[in-house]
Amino acid sequence: MDASDMGSDLAAVLLTEEQIHTRLDEMAAAIDRDYAGEPILLVGVLKGAVMVMADLSRRLHAPVEMDWMAVSSYGSGTKSSGVVRILKDLDMDTHGRNVLIVEDIIDSGLTLSWLLGNLRSRGAKTVEVATLLRKPGAAKVEVPVRYVGFDIPNDFVVGYGLDYDEGYRTLPFVATLAPSVYGDDG
Ligand code: PRP
Repeated sequence: MDASDMGSDLAAVLLTEEQIHTRLDEMAAAIDRDYAGEPILLVGVLKGAVMVMADLSRRLHAPVEMDWMAVSSYGSGTKSSGVVRILKDLDMDTHGRNVLIVEDIIDSGLTLSWLLGNLRSRGAKTVEVATLLRKPGAAKVEVPVRYVGFDIPNDFVVGYGLDYDEGYRTLPFVATLAPSVYGDDG
């Protein structure tokens, strides 16, 4: 899928494929430097983190294993409550491991805040976060994030794992969605 498939759904390309890949090179280098050859358990948060996980993990020289969690806001329309339930838990034991949570985006920060607390309570040696995108303008809670790809404006973005109504995830770049798509065009 590329921009030619999208018609007028996209307002603008925010981050090109090349910008994303260059930044992932830098993030992987920083992670390798920091962990200095120690094994890392990468924990991806489904579904949005799939692309970041695939591209970041393959750039790392450190020995890595991958695991996944799927989480959901509790109830409907309560994302801002920060109450999260686990739809799919980790398969692996995190005891004594260096856990690195891999996210596509930090919006309000509530999902990550909950996740950090949850994973820290499981006896990991370290728990850190790597995210491709972060929206400082949408933050409801401050969360310590060690590796950030890009701080972006508080716009509706899709692509590179990020969806609108489950669409657009497979775009290789990050784009802002035209307001007409989500019904906010005045
Ligand atoms: C997105 C993203 C984060 C979360 C961030 O997932 O992948 O997990 O939202 O939002 P927050 O900072 O406001 O908590 P989403 O719930 O859209 O699910 P998805 O990854 O399956 O698309």
